[in-house]
Amino acid sequence: MSIPSRKDKPAASSATPETYHVSGPRHVAIIMDGNGRWAQARGRPRLFGHHAGAKRVREIVEACPRLGVQYLTIFAFSTENWKRTQVEVAGLMSLFRRYISREMQALAAKNVRVRFIGDRERLDAKLTALMDQLERATAGNDGTQLTIALNYGGRDEVARATQRLAVDIAKGRLNPDDVDEETLPRYLDTCVLPDPDLVIRTSGEARISNFLLWQSAYSEYEFIDTLWPDFTEQEFARLCDKFGNRDRRFGAVKL
Ligand code: FPP
Repeated sequence: MSIPSRKDKPAASSATPETYHVSGPRHVAIIMDGNGRWAQARGRPRLFGHHAGAKRVREIVEACPRLGVQYLTIFAFSTENWKRTQVEVAGLMSLFRRYISREMQALAAKNVRVRFIGDRERLDAKLTALMDQLERATAGNDGTQLTIALNYGGRDEVARATQRLAVDIAKGRLNPDDVDEETLPRYLDTCVLPDPDLVIRTSGEARISNFLLWQSAYSEYEFIDTLWPDFTEQEFARLCDKFGNRDRRFGAVKL
């Protein structure tokens, strides 16, 4: 398994949704926040907001090729989200099942490859079967690489990775002296993905909420006020364009 290499600072670009962004972010990760407030502002139950949020996912996935985004990772359900009411958790699980069943063909036809990250142990068997099915159905696709974080927590991921690594050491497959910054990521759920270049969080909260903790060490962050169901391709394009104009040095000094 190869560790993804970091990209050099991209050159500036001028973006419109029609433009191919050679200098934009290759991997964008999104914390899709604000569904509940969006629904409450309309006097509707929180699940109404989640349904609107799911529709927005499709539009943003479809925009990726136009924006030059090869990898899109979205935070759909965190290890902390189980603390929500039983009605909301059950509604979200049912929404994920429906989303996968309904979108399966469209995603496959659009050359999108879907992967899931997170701990599947606590998810119900019907949902995990659909997740496996969607991963298999899109495994041969080389278009947008969509990763859905479901029952995902960054600390939980590192703990699970460490457990697997410890088993390899115990079985003599790995030497403790060889454990370094290159070794650990091979045990993470994201082992086949490059690190995110840009992490976007909608809804005005400036927190990372346990999302991609290891992987986002050098990511750029954008915290925007827009609630997730209102997030558009135009705003996505603007953020990608802004990224293209940033000076990324990864801790080094640019001469
Ligand atoms: C956070 O908003 C959002 C979630 C916990 C769920 C995210 C789910 C979706 C966008 C829908 C479906 C996704 C897929 C992949 C089908 P919030 O409820 O915390 O909003 P609030 O902060 O306004 O309460």
